Amino acid sequence: MSLIKDTEVYLNDVLEELGYCYDCKLVSSSVPSLGQFQLNVAMPLAKKYHETPRDIASKIVDRLDGRFTNVNIAGPGFINLSFSDDIIIKYMNEVINDFDVLVDKSKSKTIIVDYGGANAAKSLHVGHMRSANIGEAIKRVAKLYGNKVIGDVHLGDLGRQSGMLISELMLEKPDLVFFDPNYQGEYPKIDLTVDDLGRMYPRASIAAKEDQARMEQVRQITREVEEGRRGYLELWRQMVEISSADIKKVYDRLNCSFELWDGEMDALNYIPDVLKIMKPYLYESDGAMVMDVKIDDDKKEIPPLMVLKSDGSSKYETRDLATIYKRMKKYNPDCIWYVVDDRQALNFVQVFRGSYKSGLVKKETELCHFGFGTINGSDGKPFKTRDGGVMRLSDLLDMVKNEIRKKVRDNIDGEEKEEVIEKLTIATVKYADLLPYRQTDYIFDPVKFSSFEGKTGPYIMYTLVRCKSILRNNDMIDYKISIVNDAIRDMYVKVINLSNELYRAYVNASPNVLCEYLFELCNLYNKFYNDINISNEKDIELKNNYLSLTKLVSYIISNLLEVLAIEEVERM
Ligand code: ARG
Repeated sequence: MSLIKDTEVYLNDVLEELGYCYDCKLVSSSVPSLGQFQLNVAMPLAKKYHETPRDIASKIVDRLDGRFTNVNIAGPGFINLSFSDDIIIKYMNEVINDFDVLVDKSKSKTIIVDYGGANAAKSLHVGHMRSANIGEAIKRVAKLYGNKVIGDVHLGDLGRQSGMLISELMLEKPDLVFFDPNYQGEYPKIDLTVDDLGRMYPRASIAAKEDQARMEQVRQITREVEEGRRGYLELWRQMVEISSADIKKVYDRLNCSFELWDGEMDALNYIPDVLKIMKPYLYESDGAMVMDVKIDDDKKEIPPLMVLKSDGSSKYETRDLATIYKRMKKYNPDCIWYVVDDRQALNFVQVFRGSYKSGLVKKETELCHFGFGTINGSDGKPFKTRDGGVMRLSDLLDMVKNEIRKKVRDNIDGEEKEEVIEKLTIATVKYADLLPYRQTDYIFDPVKFSSFEGKTGPYIMYTLVRCKSILRNNDMIDYKISIVNDAIRDMYVKVINLSNELYRAYVNASPNVLCEYLFELCNLYNKFYNDINISNEKDIELKNNYLSLTKLVSYIISNLLEVLAIEEVERM
Protein backbone atom coordinates (compact mmCIF):
# COMPACT_ATOMS: atom_id res chain seq x y z
CA MET A 1 0.00 0.00 0.00
CA SER A 2 1.25 3.48 -0.74
CA LEU A 3 2.10 5.83 2.11
CA ILE A 4 -0.64 8.18 0.92
CA LYS A 5 -3.26 5.44 1.01
CA ASP A 6 -2.01 4.02 4.28
CA THR A 7 -2.23 7.48 5.82
CA GLU A 8 -5.70 8.06 4.43
CA VAL A 9 -6.88 4.82 6.02
CA TYR A 10 -5.41 5.99 9.33
CA LEU A 11 -7.02 9.43 8.99
CA ASN A 12 -10.40 7.89 8.21
CA ASP A 13 -10.08 5.88 11.41
CA VAL A 14 -9.31 9.02 13.35
CA LEU A 15 -12.40 10.68 11.93
CA GLU A 16 -14.49 7.68 12.79
CA GLU A 17 -13.28 7.71 16.39
CA LEU A 18 -14.39 11.33 16.53
CA GLY A 19 -17.80 10.31 15.24
CA TYR A 20 -17.36 11.66 11.71
CA CYS A 21 -17.79 9.80 8.52
CA TYR A 22 -15.83 11.08 5.54
CA ASP A 23 -13.51 9.70 2.89
CA CYS A 24 -10.47 11.93 3.24
CA LYS A 25 -7.84 12.57 0.65
CA LEU A 26 -4.31 13.61 1.40
CA VAL A 27 -3.18 16.07 -1.23
CA SER A 28 0.11 17.79 -1.75
CA SER A 29 0.23 21.18 -0.13
CA SER A 30 -0.52 24.33 -2.08
CA VAL A 31 1.68 26.27 0.39
CA PRO A 32 4.74 24.07 0.97
CA SER A 33 6.04 26.35 3.73
CA LEU A 34 3.05 25.31 5.84
CA GLY A 35 3.48 21.59 5.35
CA GLN A 36 4.08 18.80 2.88
CA PHE A 37 0.48 17.72 2.60
CA GLN A 38 -2.92 19.13 3.21
CA LEU A 39 -6.18 17.72 4.48
CA ASN A 40 -9.28 19.58 3.43
CA VAL A 41 -11.96 17.85 5.44
CA ALA A 42 -12.97 20.40 8.07
CA MET A 43 -15.17 22.48 5.75
CA PRO A 44 -17.26 19.65 4.32
CA LEU A 45 -17.54 18.05 7.77
CA ALA A 46 -18.66 21.38 9.26
CA LYS A 47 -21.51 21.50 6.77
CA LYS A 48 -22.47 17.92 7.47
CA TYR A 49 -22.22 18.03 11.28
CA HIS A 50 -23.12 21.68 11.97
CA GLU A 51 -19.94 22.59 13.85
CA THR A 52 -17.35 25.23 13.02
CA PRO A 53 -14.56 24.03 10.70
CA ARG A 54 -11.90 25.28 13.12
CA ASP A 55 -13.33 23.24 15.98
CA ILE A 56 -13.39 20.15 13.84
CA ALA A 57 -9.87 20.78 12.61
CA SER A 58 -8.61 21.18 16.20
CA LYS A 59 -10.27 17.95 17.30
CA ILE A 60 -8.63 16.07 14.45
CA VAL A 61 -5.22 17.61 15.00
CA ASP A 62 -5.32 16.74 18.72
CA ARG A 63 -5.75 13.09 17.89
CA LEU A 64 -2.91 12.68 15.39
CA ASP A 65 0.04 10.51 16.37
CA GLY A 66 3.77 10.83 15.92
CA ARG A 67 3.91 9.92 12.26
CA PHE A 68 3.45 13.62 11.52
CA THR A 69 5.46 16.69 12.40
CA ASN A 70 4.61 20.33 12.07
CA VAL A 71 0.85 19.84 12.15
CA ASN A 72 -0.99 23.15 11.90
CA ILE A 73 -4.31 24.65 10.98
CA ALA A 74 -4.48 27.44 8.44
CA GLY A 75 -7.27 29.83 7.55
CA PRO A 76 -10.77 28.61 8.35
CA GLY A 77 -9.66 25.00 8.92
CA PHE A 78 -7.15 23.64 6.42
CA ILE A 79 -5.00 21.06 8.16
CA ASN A 80 -1.35 21.02 7.11
CA LEU A 81 0.69 17.92 7.76
CA SER A 82 4.25 16.78 7.26
CA PHE A 83 5.57 13.27 7.61
CA SER A 84 8.29 12.66 10.16
CA ASP A 85 11.67 11.90 8.58
CA ASP A 86 11.55 8.37 9.99
CA ILE A 87 8.38 7.61 8.09
CA ILE A 88 9.72 9.10 4.87
CA ILE A 89 13.01 7.21 5.10
CA LYS A 90 11.36 3.88 5.80
CA TYR A 91 9.00 4.34 2.87
CA MET A 92 11.68 5.49 0.42
CA ASN A 93 13.76 2.45 1.28
CA GLU A 94 10.84 0.35 0.12
CA VAL A 95 10.14 2.40 -3.00
CA ILE A 96 13.75 2.24 -4.18
CA ASN A 97 13.33 -1.53 -4.56
CA ASP A 98 9.75 -1.70 -5.66
CA PHE A 99 7.98 0.95 -7.72
CA ASP A 100 4.71 -0.92 -7.21
CA VAL A 101 4.59 0.25 -3.60
CA LEU A 102 3.49 3.61 -4.99
CA VAL A 103 0.46 2.09 -6.69
CA ASP A 104 -2.75 1.14 -4.89
CA LYS A 105 -4.23 -1.64 -6.91
CA SER A 106 -7.94 -2.14 -6.64
CA LYS A 107 -10.12 -5.00 -7.83
CA SER A 108 -8.83 -6.17 -11.18
CA LYS A 109 -11.02 -5.44 -14.19
CA THR A 110 -10.84 -6.61 -17.77
CA ILE A 111 -10.36 -3.57 -19.96
CA ILE A 112 -10.18 -3.49 -23.74
CA VAL A 113 -8.40 -0.44 -25.08
CA ASP A 114 -9.27 0.33 -28.68
CA TYR A 115 -6.47 2.51 -30.00
CA GLY A 116 -4.16 2.91 -32.96
CA GLY A 117 -6.90 2.61 -35.55
CA ALA A 118 -4.63 2.62 -38.60
CA ASN A 119 -6.25 2.00 -41.95
CA ALA A 120 -4.99 -0.90 -44.02
CA ALA A 121 -3.23 -0.05 -47.26
CA LYS A 122 -2.94 3.61 -46.28
CA SER A 123 -0.09 5.43 -44.57
CA LEU A 124 -0.41 6.31 -40.93
CA HIS A 125 -1.00 10.00 -40.48
CA VAL A 126 -0.28 12.25 -37.52
CA GLY A 127 -3.69 11.66 -35.94
CA HIS A 128 -3.00 7.96 -35.73
CA MET A 129 0.12 8.75 -33.77
CA ARG A 130 -1.81 10.51 -31.01
CA SER A 131 -4.10 7.54 -30.66
CA ALA A 132 -1.12 5.19 -30.52
CA ASN A 133 0.85 7.22 -27.97
CA ILE A 134 -2.02 8.12 -25.68
CA GLY A 135 -3.61 4.68 -25.98
CA GLU A 136 -0.40 2.83 -25.19
CA ALA A 137 0.21 5.00 -22.11
CA ILE A 138 -3.37 4.62 -20.89
CA LYS A 139 -3.06 0.89 -21.35
CA ARG A 140 0.17 0.70 -19.37
CA VAL A 141 -1.20 2.84 -16.54
CA ALA A 142 -4.25 0.60 -16.33
CA LYS A 143 -1.97 -2.45 -16.24
CA LEU A 144 0.03 -0.91 -13.43
CA TYR A 145 -3.20 -0.84 -11.43
CA GLY A 146 -3.50 -4.59 -11.78
CA ASN A 147 -6.14 -4.75 -14.48
CA LYS A 148 -6.19 -7.25 -17.27
CA VAL A 149 -5.80 -4.96 -20.25
CA ILE A 150 -6.18 -5.96 -23.88
CA GLY A 151 -5.14 -3.52 -26.56
CA ASP A 152 -6.87 -3.84 -29.92
CA VAL A 153 -5.64 -1.90 -32.94
CA HIS A 154 -9.06 -2.13 -34.60
CA LEU A 155 -7.58 -1.94 -38.06
CA GLY A 156 -9.62 -0.02 -40.63
CA ASP A 157 -9.62 -2.85 -43.15
CA LEU A 158 -12.93 -2.25 -44.88
CA GLY A 159 -13.60 0.51 -47.30
CA ARG A 160 -12.73 2.04 -50.61
CA GLN A 161 -9.07 0.93 -50.38
CA SER A 162 -10.09 -2.65 -51.13
CA GLY A 163 -11.96 -1.71 -54.29
CA MET A 164 -9.20 0.61 -55.42
CA LEU A 165 -6.39 -1.88 -55.01
CA ILE A 166 -8.24 -4.87 -56.40
CA SER A 167 -9.41 -2.93 -59.46
CA GLU A 168 -5.84 -1.79 -60.09
CA LEU A 169 -4.47 -5.30 -59.81
CA MET A 170 -7.16 -6.48 -62.18
CA LEU A 171 -5.78 -4.09 -64.78
CA GLU A 172 -2.20 -5.13 -64.17
CA LYS A 173 -2.73 -8.88 -63.91
CA PRO A 174 -6.18 -9.75 -65.22
CA ASP A 175 -5.42 -13.47 -65.38
CA LEU A 176 -5.02 -14.05 -61.66
CA VAL A 177 -7.32 -16.79 -60.34
CA PHE A 178 -8.67 -14.42 -57.70
CA PHE A 179 -10.75 -12.75 -60.41
CA ASP A 180 -12.25 -15.97 -61.76
CA PRO A 181 -15.69 -16.40 -60.12
CA ASN A 182 -15.70 -20.12 -60.99
CA TYR A 183 -12.37 -20.90 -59.41
CA GLN A 184 -12.80 -23.51 -56.66
CA GLY A 185 -9.23 -24.38 -55.65
CA GLU A 186 -6.91 -22.98 -53.06
CA TYR A 187 -5.62 -19.49 -53.74
CA PRO A 188 -1.91 -18.85 -54.21
CA LYS A 189 0.14 -16.34 -52.26
CA ILE A 190 0.09 -13.05 -54.07
CA ASP A 191 3.43 -11.56 -55.04
CA LEU A 192 3.10 -7.96 -53.89
CA THR A 193 5.04 -5.67 -51.55
CA VAL A 194 3.96 -2.64 -49.52
CA ASP A 195 5.68 -0.50 -52.11
CA ASP A 196 3.50 -2.06 -54.79
CA LEU A 197 0.40 -1.22 -52.78
CA GLY A 198 1.70 2.30 -52.21
CA ARG A 199 2.21 2.73 -55.94
CA MET A 200 -1.11 1.18 -56.96
CA TYR A 201 -3.40 3.05 -54.61
CA PRO A 202 -2.85 6.61 -55.87
CA ARG A 203 -3.05 5.39 -59.46
CA ALA A 204 -6.42 3.81 -58.87
CA SER A 205 -7.63 6.76 -56.90
CA ILE A 206 -6.76 9.26 -59.65
CA ALA A 207 -8.27 7.04 -62.33
CA ALA A 208 -11.48 6.58 -60.37
CA LYS A 209 -11.83 10.30 -59.88
CA GLU A 210 -11.60 10.90 -63.60
CA ASP A 211 -13.66 7.99 -64.78
CA GLN A 212 -17.23 7.31 -63.64
CA ALA A 213 -17.21 3.71 -64.82
CA ARG A 214 -14.01 2.99 -62.93
CA MET A 215 -15.44 4.50 -59.77
CA GLU A 216 -18.52 2.33 -60.15
CA GLN A 217 -16.28 -0.71 -60.51
CA VAL A 218 -14.39 0.27 -57.35
CA ARG A 219 -17.67 0.57 -55.46
CA GLN A 220 -18.86 -2.76 -56.78
CA ILE A 221 -15.67 -4.56 -55.73
CA THR A 222 -15.73 -2.88 -52.31
CA ARG A 223 -19.27 -4.16 -51.83
CA GLU A 224 -18.37 -7.64 -52.98
CA VAL A 225 -15.42 -7.82 -50.61
CA GLU A 226 -17.77 -7.01 -47.76
CA GLU A 227 -20.34 -9.51 -49.02
CA GLY A 228 -17.63 -12.13 -48.99
CA ARG A 229 -16.95 -12.88 -52.66
CA ARG A 230 -14.35 -15.58 -52.24
CA GLY A 231 -11.58 -14.48 -54.59
CA TYR A 232 -11.81 -10.80 -53.72
CA LEU A 233 -11.96 -11.48 -50.04
CA GLU A 234 -8.89 -13.71 -50.13
CA LEU A 235 -7.01 -11.19 -52.22
CA TRP A 236 -7.92 -8.36 -49.91
CA ARG A 237 -6.98 -10.43 -46.84
CA GLN A 238 -3.52 -10.92 -48.27
CA MET A 239 -3.20 -7.24 -49.10
CA VAL A 240 -4.23 -6.34 -45.56
CA GLU A 241 -1.63 -8.72 -44.22
CA ILE A 242 1.11 -7.17 -46.33
CA SER A 243 0.10 -3.70 -45.27
CA SER A 244 -0.28 -4.68 -41.59
CA ALA A 245 3.29 -5.90 -41.45
CA ASP A 246 4.36 -2.44 -42.55
CA ILE A 247 2.01 -0.65 -40.17
CA LYS A 248 3.33 -2.79 -37.36
CA LYS A 249 6.83 -1.53 -38.04
CA VAL A 250 5.69 2.03 -37.44
CA TYR A 251 3.93 1.05 -34.23
CA ASP A 252 7.09 -0.78 -33.15
CA ARG A 253 9.01 2.42 -33.64
CA LEU A 254 6.57 4.15 -31.32
CA ASN A 255 6.83 1.27 -28.80
CA CYS A 256 3.19 0.45 -29.22
CA SER A 257 2.21 -3.17 -29.26
CA PHE A 258 -1.27 -4.56 -29.53
CA GLU A 259 -2.55 -7.76 -27.99
CA LEU A 260 -5.12 -7.97 -30.78
CA TRP A 261 -4.78 -7.15 -34.45
CA ASP A 262 -8.49 -7.44 -35.16
CA GLY A 263 -10.04 -5.30 -37.81
CA GLU A 264 -13.42 -4.06 -38.93
CA MET A 265 -13.62 -7.09 -41.20
CA ASP A 266 -13.59 -9.41 -38.21
CA ALA A 267 -16.81 -7.78 -37.08
CA LEU A 268 -18.76 -8.66 -40.22
CA ASN A 269 -19.71 -12.15 -39.05
CA TYR A 270 -21.38 -10.71 -36.00
CA ILE A 271 -23.61 -8.25 -37.83
CA PRO A 272 -26.56 -10.67 -38.30
CA ASP A 273 -26.67 -11.32 -34.53
CA VAL A 274 -26.46 -7.62 -33.80
CA LEU A 275 -29.32 -6.89 -36.18
CA LYS A 276 -31.43 -9.53 -34.47
CA ILE A 277 -30.78 -8.00 -31.04
CA MET A 278 -31.37 -4.46 -32.24
CA LYS A 279 -34.42 -5.29 -34.36
CA PRO A 280 -37.08 -4.04 -31.89
CA TYR A 281 -35.48 -0.58 -31.98
CA LEU A 282 -34.85 -0.22 -35.69
CA TYR A 283 -37.05 1.57 -38.18
CA GLU A 284 -36.75 2.52 -41.80
CA SER A 285 -35.75 5.99 -42.90
CA ASP A 286 -35.12 6.75 -46.58
CA GLY A 287 -34.46 3.07 -47.13
CA ALA A 288 -31.82 2.89 -44.38
CA MET A 289 -32.31 1.17 -41.01
CA VAL A 290 -31.87 3.56 -38.11
CA MET A 291 -32.40 3.75 -34.37
CA ASP A 292 -33.29 6.71 -32.19
CA VAL A 293 -30.66 7.43 -29.60
CA LYS A 294 -31.52 10.95 -28.46
CA ILE A 295 -32.57 11.61 -24.87
CA ASP A 296 -34.53 14.44 -23.26
CA ASP A 297 -31.50 16.05 -21.63
CA ASP A 298 -29.57 16.43 -24.87
CA LYS A 299 -28.19 19.94 -25.25
CA LYS A 300 -27.67 19.46 -28.96
CA GLU A 301 -29.42 17.37 -31.56
CA ILE A 302 -28.28 13.74 -31.57
CA PRO A 303 -29.33 12.27 -34.92
CA PRO A 304 -30.52 8.66 -35.21
CA LEU A 305 -27.85 5.98 -35.39
CA MET A 306 -27.73 4.47 -38.88
CA VAL A 307 -27.27 0.73 -38.58
CA LEU A 308 -27.67 -0.28 -42.23
CA LYS A 309 -27.32 1.83 -45.37
CA SER A 310 -30.12 1.89 -47.91
CA ASP A 311 -28.24 -0.64 -50.06
CA GLY A 312 -28.15 -2.98 -47.07
CA SER A 313 -24.43 -2.63 -46.46
CA SER A 314 -22.81 -1.85 -43.11
CA LYS A 315 -21.45 1.48 -41.94
CA TYR A 316 -18.43 2.32 -39.78
CA GLU A 317 -20.85 2.52 -36.84
CA THR A 318 -22.36 -0.89 -37.66
CA ARG A 319 -18.92 -2.41 -37.49
CA ASP A 320 -18.33 -0.71 -34.15
CA LEU A 321 -21.58 -2.16 -32.83
CA ALA A 322 -20.65 -5.61 -34.08
CA THR A 323 -17.17 -5.25 -32.60
CA ILE A 324 -18.66 -4.41 -29.22
CA TYR A 325 -20.85 -7.50 -29.47
CA LYS A 326 -17.86 -9.62 -30.48
CA ARG A 327 -15.76 -8.30 -27.63
CA MET A 328 -18.49 -8.98 -25.09
CA LYS A 329 -18.86 -12.53 -26.36
CA LYS A 330 -15.15 -13.29 -26.48
CA TYR A 331 -13.75 -11.39 -23.50
CA ASN A 332 -16.70 -10.19 -21.44
CA PRO A 333 -14.80 -7.01 -20.50
CA ASP A 334 -15.83 -4.63 -17.71
CA CYS A 335 -14.73 -1.67 -19.79
CA ILE A 336 -14.07 -0.81 -23.40
CA TRP A 337 -12.09 2.36 -23.81
CA TYR A 338 -11.73 4.12 -27.16
CA VAL A 339 -8.79 6.38 -27.77
CA VAL A 340 -9.99 8.12 -30.90
CA ASP A 341 -9.94 11.67 -32.31
CA ASP A 342 -12.53 13.95 -30.71
CA ARG A 343 -13.95 14.66 -34.15
CA GLN A 344 -15.53 11.21 -33.93
CA ALA A 345 -17.23 12.01 -30.61
CA LEU A 346 -20.75 11.99 -32.03
CA ASN A 347 -20.18 8.57 -33.57
CA PHE A 348 -19.36 7.16 -30.19
CA VAL A 349 -22.27 8.85 -28.43
CA GLN A 350 -24.58 7.20 -30.95
CA VAL A 351 -22.90 3.80 -30.88
CA PHE A 352 -22.70 3.68 -27.06
CA ARG A 353 -26.31 4.73 -26.60
CA GLY A 354 -27.44 2.24 -29.20
CA SER A 355 -25.48 -0.51 -27.44
CA TYR A 356 -26.90 0.18 -23.99
CA LYS A 357 -30.44 0.72 -25.21
CA SER A 358 -30.60 -2.44 -27.27
CA GLY A 359 -28.82 -4.52 -24.64
CA LEU A 360 -25.69 -5.30 -26.68
CA VAL A 361 -23.88 -4.50 -23.44
CA LYS A 362 -24.97 -4.56 -19.81
CA LYS A 363 -25.58 -1.30 -17.99
CA GLU A 364 -22.51 -1.96 -15.83
CA THR A 365 -20.21 -2.26 -18.83
CA GLU A 366 -18.23 0.92 -19.14
CA LEU A 367 -18.01 2.20 -22.71
CA CYS A 368 -15.81 5.26 -22.75
CA HIS A 369 -14.53 7.52 -25.47
CA PHE A 370 -11.25 9.13 -24.47
CA GLY A 371 -11.00 11.68 -27.24
CA PHE A 372 -8.01 13.73 -28.25
CA GLY A 373 -7.38 16.99 -30.06
CA THR A 374 -5.49 17.65 -33.26
CA ILE A 375 -1.82 18.22 -33.96
CA ASN A 376 -1.59 21.57 -35.68
CA GLY A 377 0.89 23.40 -37.84
CA SER A 378 2.20 26.84 -36.93
CA ASP A 379 -0.93 28.34 -38.53
CA GLY A 380 -3.01 26.69 -35.82
CA LYS A 381 -4.77 24.43 -38.32
CA PRO A 382 -4.44 20.62 -38.50
CA PHE A 383 -0.94 19.76 -39.64
CA LYS A 384 -0.65 19.46 -43.41
CA THR A 385 2.18 18.98 -45.84
CA ARG A 386 3.36 22.03 -47.78
CA ASP A 387 1.09 21.16 -50.69
CA GLY A 388 -1.90 20.77 -48.39
CA GLY A 389 -1.89 16.96 -48.18
CA VAL A 390 -2.27 14.91 -45.03
CA MET A 391 1.01 14.83 -43.07
CA ARG A 392 2.35 11.33 -42.96
CA LEU A 393 3.64 10.13 -39.66
CA SER A 394 6.96 9.06 -41.11
CA ASP A 395 7.55 12.58 -42.49
CA LEU A 396 6.87 14.07 -39.13
CA LEU A 397 9.29 11.70 -37.41
CA ASP A 398 11.94 12.61 -39.99
CA MET A 399 11.52 16.32 -39.22
CA VAL A 400 12.26 15.68 -35.57
CA LYS A 401 15.09 13.31 -36.35
CA ASN A 402 16.86 16.05 -38.32
CA GLU A 403 16.74 18.31 -35.28
CA ILE A 404 17.92 15.62 -32.90
CA ARG A 405 20.79 14.64 -35.20
CA LYS A 406 22.25 18.14 -34.80
CA LYS A 407 22.32 17.75 -31.04
CA VAL A 408 23.63 14.31 -30.19
CA ARG A 409 27.23 14.35 -28.98
CA ASP A 410 29.98 13.60 -31.45
CA ASN A 411 31.89 11.34 -29.12
CA ILE A 412 29.26 8.63 -29.47
CA ASP A 413 30.19 6.70 -32.52
CA GLY A 414 28.75 4.78 -35.40
CA GLU A 415 25.97 2.34 -34.72
CA GLU A 416 25.36 3.48 -31.18
CA LYS A 417 24.93 7.04 -32.36
CA GLU A 418 22.24 6.06 -34.85
CA GLU A 419 20.44 4.12 -32.17
CA VAL A 420 20.61 7.03 -29.75
CA ILE A 421 19.31 9.42 -32.40
CA GLU A 422 16.40 7.15 -33.19
CA LYS A 423 15.47 6.57 -29.54
CA LEU A 424 15.76 10.26 -28.73
CA THR A 425 13.64 11.14 -31.74
CA ILE A 426 10.88 8.88 -30.55
CA ALA A 427 11.24 10.10 -26.97
CA THR A 428 10.99 13.68 -28.21
CA VAL A 429 7.89 13.09 -30.26
CA LYS A 430 6.18 10.98 -27.67
CA TYR A 431 6.84 13.30 -24.76
CA ALA A 432 5.65 16.30 -26.79
CA ASP A 433 2.57 14.39 -27.85
CA LEU A 434 1.70 13.26 -24.33
CA LEU A 435 2.49 16.51 -22.54
CA PRO A 436 -0.66 18.51 -23.38
CA TYR A 437 -3.91 17.24 -21.90
CA ARG A 438 -5.20 14.83 -24.52
CA GLN A 439 -8.16 16.94 -25.59
CA THR A 440 -6.00 20.00 -26.13
CA ASP A 441 -4.84 20.74 -29.67
CA TYR A 442 -1.18 21.58 -29.91
CA ILE A 443 1.23 23.06 -32.41
CA PHE A 444 3.92 20.75 -33.68
CA ASP A 445 7.25 22.51 -33.25
CA PRO A 446 10.21 20.20 -33.92
CA VAL A 447 12.79 22.75 -32.80
CA LYS A 448 11.13 23.47 -29.47
CA PHE A 449 10.34 19.80 -28.83
CA SER A 450 13.91 18.69 -29.35
CA SER A 451 15.49 21.31 -27.12
CA PHE A 452 17.54 19.94 -24.24
CA GLU A 453 15.94 22.47 -21.93
CA GLY A 454 12.37 23.01 -20.86
CA LYS A 455 9.49 20.57 -20.84
CA THR A 456 10.86 18.24 -23.45
CA GLY A 457 11.66 14.59 -23.91
CA PRO A 458 15.39 15.30 -24.33
CA TYR A 459 15.45 17.24 -21.04
CA ILE A 460 13.94 14.32 -19.15
CA MET A 461 16.26 11.88 -20.89
CA TYR A 462 19.25 14.09 -20.21
CA THR A 463 18.45 14.04 -16.50
CA LEU A 464 18.15 10.27 -16.55
CA VAL A 465 21.43 9.92 -18.45
CA ARG A 466 23.06 12.21 -15.91
CA CYS A 467 21.81 10.04 -13.02
CA LYS A 468 22.95 6.87 -14.74
CA SER A 469 26.37 8.27 -15.46
CA ILE A 470 26.82 9.33 -11.82
CA LEU A 471 25.81 5.86 -10.70
CA ARG A 472 28.14 4.21 -13.22
CA ASN A 473 31.09 6.29 -12.10
CA ASN A 474 30.50 5.77 -8.40
CA ASP A 475 30.26 2.12 -7.51
CA MET A 476 27.79 1.44 -4.78
CA ILE A 477 25.80 -1.67 -4.05
CA ASP A 478 23.85 -0.99 -0.93
CA TYR A 479 21.61 1.99 -1.47
CA LYS A 480 20.26 3.38 1.76
CA ILE A 481 18.08 6.40 1.97
CA SER A 482 18.39 9.06 4.63
CA ILE A 483 17.63 12.73 4.84
CA VAL A 484 20.46 15.19 5.32
CA ASN A 485 18.98 18.40 3.97
CA ASP A 486 15.77 20.07 2.86
CA ALA A 487 16.39 19.65 -0.86
CA ILE A 488 16.60 15.90 -0.42
CA ARG A 489 13.51 15.80 1.76
CA ASP A 490 11.60 17.82 -0.87
CA MET A 491 12.45 15.26 -3.51
CA TYR A 492 11.29 12.38 -1.35
CA VAL A 493 8.05 14.16 -0.61
CA LYS A 494 7.67 14.61 -4.33
CA VAL A 495 8.09 10.85 -4.74
CA ILE A 496 5.50 10.14 -2.03
CA ASN A 497 3.07 12.27 -3.97
CA LEU A 498 3.60 10.28 -7.14
CA SER A 499 0.87 7.91 -5.90
CA ASN A 500 -1.67 10.72 -6.26
CA GLU A 501 -0.40 11.65 -9.69
CA LEU A 502 -0.47 8.09 -10.97
CA TYR A 503 -4.01 7.72 -9.74
CA ARG A 504 -4.99 10.95 -11.45
CA ALA A 505 -3.47 9.72 -14.71
CA TYR A 506 -5.39 6.47 -14.30
CA VAL A 507 -8.88 7.72 -13.50
CA ASN A 508 -8.81 10.59 -15.98
CA ALA A 509 -6.97 8.66 -18.66
CA SER A 510 -4.54 11.56 -18.78
CA PRO A 511 -0.89 10.59 -19.11
CA ASN A 512 -0.01 14.28 -19.39
CA VAL A 513 -0.05 14.36 -15.58
CA LEU A 514 2.95 12.03 -15.58
CA CYS A 515 4.82 14.16 -18.14
CA GLU A 516 4.37 17.20 -15.89
CA TYR A 517 5.45 15.19 -12.89
CA LEU A 518 8.59 13.99 -14.64
CA PHE A 519 9.51 17.53 -15.53
CA GLU A 520 9.10 18.73 -11.95
CA LEU A 521 11.07 15.83 -10.51
CA CYS A 522 13.90 16.38 -13.01
CA ASN A 523 13.94 20.07 -12.16
CA LEU A 524 14.31 19.35 -8.46
CA TYR A 525 17.07 16.87 -9.11
CA ASN A 526 19.00 19.11 -11.49
CA LYS A 527 18.85 21.99 -9.08
CA PHE A 528 20.22 19.72 -6.37
CA TYR A 529 22.91 18.45 -8.73
CA ASN A 530 24.01 21.97 -9.58
CA ASP A 531 24.24 22.97 -5.92
CA ILE A 532 26.26 19.95 -4.82
CA ASN A 533 29.24 18.20 -6.29
CA ILE A 534 28.30 14.59 -5.78
CA SER A 535 31.34 12.87 -7.21
CA ASN A 536 33.82 15.02 -5.28
CA GLU A 537 32.12 14.67 -1.92
CA LYS A 538 34.72 13.46 0.61
CA ASP A 539 32.32 12.50 3.38
CA ILE A 540 31.50 8.91 2.51
CA GLU A 541 28.23 8.82 4.34
CA LEU A 542 27.05 12.03 2.74
CA LYS A 543 28.13 10.82 -0.65
CA ASN A 544 26.23 7.57 -0.20
CA ASN A 545 23.20 9.63 0.63
CA TYR A 546 23.47 11.58 -2.58
CA LEU A 547 24.00 8.43 -4.57
CA SER A 548 20.97 6.77 -3.01
CA LEU A 549 18.87 9.75 -3.91
CA THR A 550 20.25 9.64 -7.44
CA LYS A 551 19.43 5.97 -7.64
CA LEU A 552 15.86 6.57 -6.52
CA VAL A 553 15.32 9.45 -8.93
CA SER A 554 16.70 7.45 -11.83
CA TYR A 555 14.51 4.48 -10.84
CA ILE A 556 11.40 6.67 -10.77
CA ILE A 557 12.20 8.31 -14.11
CA SER A 558 12.84 4.91 -15.70
CA ASN A 559 9.60 3.49 -14.44
CA LEU A 560 7.57 6.47 -15.58
CA LEU A 561 9.18 6.42 -19.02
CA GLU A 562 8.28 2.76 -19.22
CA VAL A 563 4.67 3.60 -18.39
CA LEU A 564 4.68 6.25 -21.12
CA ALA A 565 6.27 3.72 -23.50
CA ILE A 566 9.37 5.85 -24.02
CA GLU A 567 12.60 3.89 -24.36
CA GLU A 568 15.63 5.16 -22.52
CA VAL A 569 19.18 5.73 -23.71
CA GLU A 570 22.44 5.22 -21.81
CA ARG A 571 24.27 8.20 -23.28
CA MET A 572 23.36 11.16 -25.43
N1 ARG B 1 -9.74 3.70 -38.50
C1 ARG B 1 -10.37 4.82 -37.86
C2 ARG B 1 -9.83 6.12 -38.45
O1 ARG B 1 -8.76 6.13 -39.05
C3 ARG B 1 -10.19 4.83 -36.39
C4 ARG B 1 -10.78 3.64 -35.66
C5 ARG B 1 -11.13 3.96 -34.24
N2 ARG B 1 -11.73 2.88 -33.53
C6 ARG B 1 -13.02 2.49 -33.60
N3 ARG B 1 -13.42 1.48 -32.91
N4 ARG B 1 -13.86 3.15 -34.35
O2 ARG B 1 -10.44 7.15 -38.28
